[in-house]
Amino acid sequence: MENFVIEGGRELFGEVNISGAKNAAVAIIPAAILANDVVRIENIPQISDVQLIIEILDRMGAKVKLIKRDTIEIDSSNISYQSVPYELTSHFRASYYLIGAMLGRYKKAEVAMPGGCNFGVRPIDLHVKGFKMLGAEVDTIDGMVVANADKLVGASIYMDNVSVGATINVMLAAVLARGLTIIENAAKEPHIVDLANFLNSMGADVRGAGTDVIKIRGVEKMHGCTYSIIPDQIEAGTYMVAAAACGGDVLIKNVIPKHLESISAKLIESGAEIIEYDDAVRVTRFKPLNKCNVKTMPHPGFPTDMQPQMCVLLSVADGTSILSESVWDNRFQYVGQLLRMGANIQVDGSVAVIEGIPRLTGCEVSATDLRAGAALIIAGLVADGTTTVENIQYIDRGYEDVVAKFSTLGANIKRVEVPELSVVQSAG
Ligand code: EPZ
Repeated sequence: MENFVIEGGRELFGEVNISGAKNAAVAIIPAAILANDVVRIENIPQISDVQLIIEILDRMGAKVKLIKRDTIEIDSSNISYQSVPYELTSHFRASYYLIGAMLGRYKKAEVAMPGGCNFGVRPIDLHVKGFKMLGAEVDTIDGMVVANADKLVGASIYMDNVSVGATINVMLAAVLARGLTIIENAAKEPHIVDLANFLNSMGADVRGAGTDVIKIRGVEKMHGCTYSIIPDQIEAGTYMVAAAACGGDVLIKNVIPKHLESISAKLIESGAEIIEYDDAVRVTRFKPLNKCNVKTMPHPGFPTDMQPQMCVLLSVADGTSILSESVWDNRFQYVGQLLRMGANIQVDGSVAVIEGIPRLTGCEVSATDLRAGAALIIAGLVADGTTTVENIQYIDRGYEDVVAKFSTLGANIKRVEVPELSVVQSAG
């Protein structure tokens, strides 16, 4: 088992490079099987979620070749149809993209209901609704999602809720369907646009990604391509919030500043200065932090995946801030860990009321999910004393080289091996 051990209280200075986007990579890699050809994908982040999806494709018979550290080649021309069991999907929510990709390629799919970070109920009803409207029969049998279609035919699909996953899955299933599919009330996140660009590079005809309405005209066949994944909006946002929370002067490189606007706006309101360059943002903060209210929303709103990190910043800002979560039902589980560090936060349903205090105090805390884990690193960096973050496997799912990247900014953070404790059960 490994923990992060952080000595807090230092300002951050220097430059950090942002990796490829996790949530784009986990959609683009399974989408590669639609080509039935050789696809080269660049700017792949070195994180455990990506290793898992590559392993699944490998087990399906795809030939996956490492070209260089962040570039792979996937040859899916020889893969054979097979079901994807729970042992492969249980740790990894985005494995449900295999349903859309396999349905697109084989007109059938059998994929175990996935696991992943737990924010309460995580339904897939909108994915299923989309597949059914394209002509598939979809059932859940013994924990497996089983989808079959004689043929897929384009349809007009209204998403009752803005869903990243359902929008992506319908795009994957529709690119090789007959005729026109229209997704209304589609998600507009940067990785939706990235997936559309990737599909189009493979010969698909997807238009309107990044707006509420995506139109997909089915094509007969797709082909190989070379494609580079966009920078990770949330990794970039995490370093931006860390720089603003700790104070200092940090240049965050290899980003698309447009994707970071909602985060920049809230950091400016909290007292940071942000300078945007073509492919970098600079965050400086030397004044005290101010309170500020934040509400998470689908893109272009403030991302839910930045909510825990922002909560840490607000917990050491002057005054009382209101943080509202409007995407997930249950995304404040980590707050208990911040309370242990001295934060003054009250959660009522989907709203957290944060009374800022001058400093957090280091102690042992445990990550409850990926972004909560990132937030606890930031909390450790701003806290007095030593913070030990446990359950860091969540953080490794989505942050490449987090120790090296924070260390180059002057943070004192180490990955430490700890022996597993054997729990002695009482006989009484
Ligand atoms: C994606 O999850 C991201 N994951 C999440 O990031 C992110 O928090 C989320 O989008 C919102 O931005 C990946 O891209 C792999 P949704 P996803 O479908 O697709 C409801 C991270 O930390 N809904 O947009 O699963 C759902 O309950 C991860 O990187 C339905 O009602 O999220 C939620 O309230 C965690 N029915 C809302 O929609 C459905 O069929 C948004 O969920 C599907 C979703």
